[in-house]
Amino acid sequence: MQAMQHPVFRRFWYPIVELSKLADGPQPFTLLGQELVLWLQADGTPAALADRCPHRQAKLSVDSRVVDGALACGYHGWQFGASGTCLFVPQMPELKPGSRSAAKPFACQARYGYAWVCLDENPLQDIPLLPRSADPAFRQIFEYAEDWRANFLRVAENSLDIGHVSFVHRATFGEEEKPVAPRLNVTPLENGVRFTCALPVANRSAQQRNLRIADTHTVRQVEITWTMPGSFQLQFTYPNGLVHAICGFATPIDDRHCRRIQFVYRSDSEADAPGEAIAAFDRSVAAEDRAILESCPADFPLDPGAEAHMILDRPSLVMRQVLRRLLRDHDPHADLAAHELGAADAFGMDAA
Ligand code: FES
Ligand SMILES: [Fe+2]
Repeated sequence: MQAMQHPVFRRFWYPIVELSKLADGPQPFTLLGQELVLWLQADGTPAALADRCPHRQAKLSVDSRVVDGALACGYHGWQFGASGTCLFVPQMPELKPGSRSAAKPFACQARYGYAWVCLDENPLQDIPLLPRSADPAFRQIFEYAEDWRANFLRVAENSLDIGHVSFVHRATFGEEEKPVAPRLNVTPLENGVRFTCALPVANRSAQQRNLRIADTHTVRQVEITWTMPGSFQLQFTYPNGLVHAICGFATPIDDRHCRRIQFVYRSDSEADAPGEAIAAFDRSVAAEDRAILESCPADFPLDPGAEAHMILDRPSLVMRQVLRRLLRDHDPHADLAAHELGAADAFGMDAA
């Protein structure tokens, strides 16, 4: 299944760029093939337009500036507001521009320190709720925002995949000689899937400092939630009570590329463990995932018979079930090939 062929994926909110980066000036981004420009208005809220100026079709992200909160095109300086309306033509300051002078706007809002965009006027669901964001006992650490040459659903699926830890992450927290296969308690959700498990992990020197646990091995109590289509929360609780709650996102550029965004909420303080050291460790884990995910195909088969599975893959199978339901319920006019949805499920889940 290729998301670019299914307009329903335009009906979700996706995080695009840190607000702090937008403060440096307008930024381009391509979301599901739609070229955008984002900028910060005078009140600090973000705005998004199609990256085409209605005057001579120049990209609004090229050499543009923010003037009194409006986006000023780099070519002739026309200024645009968040609704796309042209507010000012410098060469004709007395002119009241008409609707033919408007750029195309997209819904944009700030949440969790990021600008989020939805390409459709009718989002299917709100931006994922992250309860730790309102908890004063937790600090937020921005970890990274990188563009990967990987399919966004395969990146999201990777967060549900416990079986890869002993192999992909053998240099950071996995142990190849002891492949992990914990018992998963899986809960299908209406718009995602959640599971819990106890995950034994290696605790090497960098993590010994970050976790303030001296042992060379420890056990994470894991709760992982995927929310369609590209959001995942990974909460790890360690034996000393420390909570490390990862908020990860795979924002689709197209079927082959995505922007991988991650921040974390931690129950400890900067004095306990510097945020930069925590982010550095998680970045090294992400680099391991990236290398293998960039080797995977640019589509995401929803037919459970299209790829082989093991028992540990049950969350991934629920993910495919949820996406099949999404396409059936909300993409009725899409040109769906029957093999994309699949006819049978080897694990006794729904028949398409
Ligand atoms: S092309 Fe943008 S103002 Fe002329
Ligand atoms: Fe991983």
